[in-house]
Amino acid sequence: MSPEDSRLRWQAALMDNYGTPPVTLARGAGAEVWDTTGRRYLDLVGGIAVNALGHAHPAVVRAVTEQIATLGHVSNFAISEPALCLAETLLDLLGGTGTGRVLLCNSGAEANETAFKIARRTGRPKIVSTEGGFHGRTMGALALTGQPAKRAPFEPMPPGVEFVPYGDRDALASVVDDDTAAVVLEPVQGESGVIVPPVDYLPAAREITARRGALLVLDEVQTGIGRTGAWFVHQTAGITPDVVTLAKGLGGGLPIGACVAIGDAAHLLSPGQHGTTFGGNPVCCAAALAVLRTIAADGLLDHAAALGKEIATGVEELGHPLVAGVRGVGLLLGIARTGPKAADLATAARTAGFLVNPVQPDTIRLAPPLVLTDAQAQEFLTVLPGLLDQALLDEVQ
Ligand SMILES: Cc1ncc(COP(=O)(O)O)c(C=O)c1O
Repeated sequence: MSPEDSRLRWQAALMDNYGTPPVTLARGAGAEVWDTTGRRYLDLVGGIAVNALGHAHPAVVRAVTEQIATLGHVSNFAISEPALCLAETLLDLLGGTGTGRVLLCNSGAEANETAFKIARRTGRPKIVSTEGGFHGRTMGALALTGQPAKRAPFEPMPPGVEFVPYGDRDALASVVDDDTAAVVLEPVQGESGVIVPPVDYLPAAREITARRGALLVLDEVQTGIGRTGAWFVHQTAGITPDVVTLAKGLGGGLPIGACVAIGDAAHLLSPGQHGTTFGGNPVCCAAALAVLRTIAADGLLDHAAALGKEIATGVEELGHPLVAGVRGVGLLLGIARTGPKAADLATAARTAGFLVNPVQPDTIRLAPPLVLTDAQAQEFLTVLPGLLDQALLDEVQ
């Protein structure tokens, strides 16, 4: 089957909500993937921050294989050991053992839907979210998403959400009041181009919400599970939020999300008020446990922090006129390209054997597996100057 045939079949069978992807992948190992023609690529996207342990990691393969052969699914009328163990582990990692509770679901959007419902259960009408933020595509998550173009085709949204500029503590302080149920934000904005807020922003958000009795909901769907070199990036700010939402890297490629609430917020949902058939699925939970255990056992937090710095410094030290700078933390990086041609650079990178993501017209996002090796990072840094030079040439022609 040629790549062109795959694309034609895709167009004939799948809805056009993504456009037609340019590549058909057949298999992967670690941070490498191969397309259906046998061509190898270095995967610097990692399923968009999902494949924390890369592709076909033995720990995930073993956990999933053993679990599906033992107990593949239970309903919400039964307890399973993997779900119990995962909830306890997440609470432990988030400092919520005893006071916290977990809702297991299937995606980031669903984790945020849960947070939305928790916020509604406070009885307060208003939710504050941030401009440029992204929280998912379901209606509640979309209502929290500060990108008007994504919301517009689906208006009216669930009401009560107000947006403030991201990273601006004064703007936050000016809108959060006694009617505010929750402030919802990403501790580093991912989809809007890897935007890191000022260091005092998260502590300020914590202080402002606590003062007004509002919940602080942190969407760590993209930043969580070791991506930034910490288990959760808010931990580097030394704060404890009321709610943390997770997905992406948690399942290492299997679909799982979690909404973790700590303190009073953990008790706002009562029986019958929320649920999902697949939430807590034992196979997905077993995969998530394998991911968490491997990150800890293999020192992948330190590795992500160090390798992220190495890549960011390496790109900045090129001093290339097309690179305006590198933003990000750990292995969530945005290479800011001067001019709105990030998509062309991503195409050139793919042609050269590197998968990167033009997350914004002027930004290339890297969110590689945490198991990316130093040598693989170097491979990218060696090829990048040539790609940028070619882009510069194309620009002047
Ligand atoms: C910060 C953040 N929240 C939520 C989501 C939605 O997650 P999902 O696509 O699993 O629904 C995403 C996806 O990109 C995200 O980056």
